[in-house]
Amino acid sequence: MIYSAKVMEHFANPRNVGELADANGIGEVGNAKCGDIMKIYLKIENDTIVDVRFKTFGCGAAIATSSMATELIKGKPLSEALKLTNKAVVEALDGLPPVKIHCSVLSEQAIKAAIADYYTRLGIDPTPFVGKLDSEEEHEHGCACDCDE
Ligand code: FES
Repeated sequence: MIYSAKVMEHFANPRNVGELADANGIGEVGNAKCGDIMKIYLKIENDTIVDVRFKTFGCGAAIATSSMATELIKGKPLSEALKLTNKAVVEALDGLPPVKIHCSVLSEQAIKAAIADYYTRLGIDPTPFVGKLDSEEEHEHGCACDCDE
C-alpha cells in the first residue's frame, strides 16, 4: 500500500494527541467497518474552537487523518468546522489508498459528535447545526469505501 509523504509524516508525528481537561465538547465514534474508535475533545469559546485534542484507537490512516483534521479546525468557527468533510482531509493529506478512505470518515464524524455534545451541554438541540448523527447512514452514503455494511 502506498501512502503519501504527508500521511506518513502525520502518522509518525501526529498533532494534538491527548485529552483536554477543560473540554466543553467531546465526541466519540466507532467505525462500522473495522471497529476502531476515535475520541475528540474540543474547547470552544465564542463559537470558535480554541483548542482540540484527539485519541484514536485505530490504524495509521485514522491517526494521520485525525491529526490533519484537528489542524484544520483549530482556531476556526464552529460553522466552518462543521463544513469539514473527510474528502477535504484526505485531499489535505495528498490522498489515501481507496481501502483506507473509511478511516477518514471517523474524524469527520467525531468532530460533528463533539460539536453536537457542546450544543447539548448548553441545552440547545444540535440537529439544526450538525444534522443527523447516524453513522451507519453516513457510512453507507457518505464514503467511497468498499464495505458492504
Ligand atoms: Fe479502522 Fe482505519 S482500519 S480506522
